[in-house]
Parts: sequence; structure tokens; C-alpha cells
Amino acid sequence: MTYDDIRTTVRDQYGAMARAGSSCCGPSTNGCCAPAADPTALAEAIGYDASELARILPEGANLGLSCGNPGAIAALTPGEIVLDLGSGAGFDAFLCGPKVGATGRVIGVDMTPDMLSKARGNLAGYTRRTGLANVEFRMGEIEHLPVADASVDVVISNCVINLSPDKPQVWREIFRVLKPGGRVAVSDMVLLRPLPEGIQAAVEAYVGCIAGASLLEDLRAMLTAAGLVRLELIAKSAYVATLSANDDPLYREVQSALPAGTTPADFITSMDISAIKPGACCTPGCCT
Ligand SMILES: C[S@@+](CC[C@H](N)C(=O)[O-])C[C@H]1O[C@@H](n2cnc3c(N)ncnc32)[C@H](O)[C@@H]1O
Repeated sequence: MTYDDIRTTVRDQYGAMARAGSSCCGPSTNGCCAPAADPTALAEAIGYDASELARILPEGANLGLSCGNPGAIAALTPGEIVLDLGSGAGFDAFLCGPKVGATGRVIGVDMTPDMLSKARGNLAGYTRRTGLANVEFRMGEIEHLPVADASVDVVISNCVINLSPDKPQVWREIFRVLKPGGRVAVSDMVLLRPLPEGIQAAVEAYVGCIAGASLLEDLRAMLTAAGLVRLELIAKSAYVATLSANDDPLYREVQSALPAGTTPADFITSMDISAIKPGACCTPGCCT
């Protein structure tokens, strides 16, 4: 498959999910990042605060497609500009909005027209709930961000970069748009060891955020090559454990293709990925 073929497949599948709304990923569908029968329960299992979700999120913003909580590792402060890569229906963008407040801004970017329509359709509900109008959504690919150089304080992303056919380019783009001293706060799926070939080749496993995941050592190399420093890569076991415990259809299929005595958690994990673009004052040993 070419890069364009992969993007088209991903766009078609996530477009269908946006049109279906939540709970889109039962056994009869082709898988997605979090085939959650109950998106709120999944969000709580991976670290979201139930009362915050209820207070801020417009209906339909949580499609159950997340695998971590990037806003929680971003340590946002009022006035900051946040960029959410692959913003879906607006889930994390809306939750970050109140943290940066009226003087800050959140920009979500997504390449799937139906996701973008859904996110934009949720804007009025967000403003009604929070009194804020500080979130916007832009159409675009994360490999070619529609965002100016050195204009963003924090890049977040939740279960998206694994879907890109050109991950080194995504990390270079993240570096380009961050201000000097800007931060990366990403949650994504990462491989602890290579998957068996059958799983690697399965479209369902790619769209389901498994087969496209980078190996941990490759991820570290991509961030470093892009120029990012102070890497912190922290595995979070809750996501794979929750899906496996709930007998998720995709994870059940993956399990059946794994060598005897191993489980999906031996191969793949959700990971909190933090890093910094060196500041103007950066010298070896002192990068803030
Ligand atoms: C698994 S969903 C996650 C959505 C959202 N981050 C959340 O947690 O609810 C992946 C999203 O990334 C978008 N996406 C995938 N690949 C992309 C790319 N190369 N450029 C832009 N958006 C992409 C999809 O359209 C989809 O909305």
C-alpha cells in the first residue's frame, strides 16, 4: 500500500465511525482505536475524571477512540496555545480549552471530513457549557500541519500518530510548529517487540491502532532525529488491560495470532510521550 492508500483507508474507516457516533466498533465493524461499548467507562479506565467529562464535554465528543490522557501530562496553564493532532470529535481539545482559558487557544487538526463536521458541530455545546470560544478545528494531515512555524506552546495527540504512514515526518512537523521551549504531550500505542507478520499485514489491526504502532526504540530515534529533547516515555498498562478484560473483538483476534504463552500486553502498550523543543538558550546539558 502507498502512503495515500493507507491514509484513504484510515480516513474511510474513521469517517464511518464519525457518522455512526459512539459505540461504533462492535464485532461486525473493522476495528478502531478503542472499540468501547461504553466510551465514558473506557475514558475513566484510562485516567479521565468523570465529573470533568460531564461538566465540559458536549454530547458526542467522546467516541471512545482514545488510548491515554494527553491533557493530564501536558500541565497546561492559562494563555497557552495547544495543538491537538487527530482531534476526532473534539474530545481532548474541549477538555484542554478550560485549562488554557479565555486567553489561550486550542487548535484541533484532523484529515477526516466527517470527524471535522462532528467536532465543529460540537463547538456550540462546548461554549454553552463553559462560556468559552477558544477552540477551533482545521482540516489537515498531521504530516503537513496547517499551522505556522514556532506558534504553539504544547502539542497533544491521542492515539493518532500510530495511524500515520510517515511518522518521522509527523515528528518533524511537531518540531516545526512548536515554539522554542514548547512541549510534547502525546498518548499513543507503541510496540514493545515486533508483531507476528499476519497481524502486521491486517488492515483491521492497522486501523485499530495496533499494526501501525512504532517500536519503542524507533520512536525514541524519531523524536531525537526531529530535534526534540528530554524524552520521557512511560508505558501505561490500563488501556490494553481494559480491552483484553472486556473481550474486545480485535484484541481477541490478535491474541489468537500470537505465539502460545504470550498476550497482547507483551507486544503493545499505550504510552505517555513527553518531550521538549529546545529553547533559544539551549546549550548541551541545559535545555529548557
Ligand atoms: C483513533 S481516532 C482518535 C481521535 C481523538 N484523538 C480521540 O481521542 O477521540 C484517530 C483520529 O485521527 C485522525 N487521523 C488519522 N490519521 C491522520 C492523519 N494522517 N492526519 C490527520 N488526521 C488523522 C482520524 O481521522 C481520527 O479522527
